[in-house]
Amino acid sequence: DKAGYKHFMAKEIAEQPTVLADALRGYLDGDTISLPGEPLDFTKIERLTLVACGTAFYACLTAKYWFEQLAGLPVEVDVASEFRYREPPITAHTVALFVSQSGETADTLAALRYCKDKADKIVSVVNVAESSIARESDLALPIHAGVEVGVASTKAFTCQLNVLLLLALKAAVDRGRMTPEALAETLASLRALPGVLNAAMDRSDDINQAARQIAEARDVLFLGRGLMYPLALEGALKLKEISYIHAEAYASGELKHGPIALIDKSVPVVVMAPRDALFDKTVSNMQEVLARGGKVLLITDAAGAAEAGQDVWKTIILPEVPSILSPLLYAIPAQLLAYHTAIAKGTDVDQPRNLAKSVTVE
Ligand code: M6R
Repeated sequence: DKAGYKHFMAKEIAEQPTVLADALRGYLDGDTISLPGEPLDFTKIERLTLVACGTAFYACLTAKYWFEQLAGLPVEVDVASEFRYREPPITAHTVALFVSQSGETADTLAALRYCKDKADKIVSVVNVAESSIARESDLALPIHAGVEVGVASTKAFTCQLNVLLLLALKAAVDRGRMTPEALAETLASLRALPGVLNAAMDRSDDINQAARQIAEARDVLFLGRGLMYPLALEGALKLKEISYIHAEAYASGELKHGPIALIDKSVPVVVMAPRDALFDKTVSNMQEVLARGGKVLLITDAAGAAEAGQDVWKTIILPEVPSILSPLLYAIPAQLLAYHTAIAKGTDVDQPRNLAKSVTVE
């Protein structure tokens, strides 16, 4: 049931504030993070191996920044189809963590089975609680996104981010890197996030305007730095999946190592950059694009917009949030941009060509 929306994808994008609020409640006991099932003590864990495919992989890549920065925990991340065949050594005190919406992705399941007798513990972050990946894990953490019908994953992505962030925060507290007071402050911001996401949804018309022109492009680049790099990758994946426009994402700092050769006025460049500690660096990469005639769509906050200069083609202004929460917020315009571009092109948004919701072949 599309509940009055034209597409499941639109409904699932709009549901995010509500499902995230519910999901958060499922993991909090006051200001303590409480996981369902087997306890997970991060003082005993020396390394995390995160494995997934597609959008779930980008959630893992985001989580790497969180686990490393907040908890000082070394993290390896890989796509399941590479991980399983590389036969990577799993060192002592490693937890292997698998992220999958369906819980049935063949490569992710095979990677999990590879880790079974090697890792201290198998943890999964899943949407479908009865899935193979959930069943074969020592600890299966539900993301509580509800059924996701659109082939392009939207609410599952933000709900995966939510659980991974909570895990990273728990790791930070367990490992003495974060005080209970600092945790309480972050949790307060997380509780306020649904309202912030609703404010981001209000940018839909602005994004739609930009999308109408992006729909004319043959290629689109996405740039981001730090936590915005995995988001740029997710934005590019979303756009190519449903609009069939060639889209690629780069870490902003990589631009001058090759991709800058692609820049001309026909290539829109989507820059995702909240006014955080890395903003100035990203802006200087953006200036390099502008100097070569590139057409920049900047997604930022009010402070970022004020500092970015006049030459950008369009600016989408989002509310300000604490830096570590920015991936959950910036996912919204990335999803809306793909959605409106696909609508402008007239493609089948919910069931894009060549794609299946659950990839059970290798
Ligand atoms: O069910 P999973 O999370 O394991 O699926 C992984 C990918 O197949 C999936 O995220 C895919 O990339 C989506 N179509 C992205 O929108």
